[in-house]
Amino acid sequence: IGQVIHYYKEVTSTQIIASDLVQQNAPHGTVVIAEAQTAGRGRMAREWDSAAGKGIWMTIILRPDLPPHQAPQFTLVAAVAVVNAMKSLYPTITPEIKWPNDILINGKKTTGILTEMIAEADRVQALLVGIGINVNQQKEHFPEELQSIATSLRMEAGEVLDRAALVAEICRYMENYSEQYVTYGFSRLKTLWEEASGTIGKNIRATTLREVLEGTAVGITEDGVLQLRLANGDVRGIYSADIELT
Ligand code: BTN
Repeated sequence: IGQVIHYYKEVTSTQIIASDLVQQNAPHGTVVIAEAQTAGRGRMAREWDSAAGKGIWMTIILRPDLPPHQAPQFTLVAAVAVVNAMKSLYPTITPEIKWPNDILINGKKTTGILTEMIAEADRVQALLVGIGINVNQQKEHFPEELQSIATSLRMEAGEVLDRAALVAEICRYMENYSEQYVTYGFSRLKTLWEEASGTIGKNIRATTLREVLEGTAVGITEDGVLQLRLANGDVRGIYSADIELT
């Protein structure tokens, strides 16, 4: 991963560039990086603030030979890769995964992950693993509405960081973990995920499309489904939701 890197000063979204590259047969492991995005996108059609020169806005193209239902777990795989890459380079910071796709430090968001799939019949043709990391912003670089909920690695580590070094480390971890996932499934990475997670063991509120559930996050299944124990003792699987620590 990262043998071929397409680097741009400014794009609409690295996800869009990556999807064009897939149509042009870009190989597994191709990485798209931009200094700035004019239409960075987040989960659930949200916008993603992509300040010029301050963050890592990247998309990794993967071409695993898997059925489409195994694609969403790549968000979990990428989250563990990013957390462990951050910890290996910057031992003083404490990044934690907030299921399914955020990485927080001291409760504030530093990273979002968005996995999109291009499928053909019943096989994955390509996965676009989009990773957005706030690296060198200071508080005033964030739009006002994000200032209380977002942070950057620089704000947490107290120094300006080398974005290229972090990209290289993420590619290294991502290559290792995605190979393990393709070969052995999520069971091999489950413990690593739980160790990197700030969600397991916490009381949370999960807002799904249908309902709001409160309880204790007790684990994750091999399919990446969050297990929530409700006050009455029932354990419910959460497939997709926004969660808050309570
Ligand atoms: C989220 O938290 O909702 C996911 C945010 C994902 C942002 C990254 S930045 C690189 C890639 N290109 C995009 O337009 N989005 C992802």
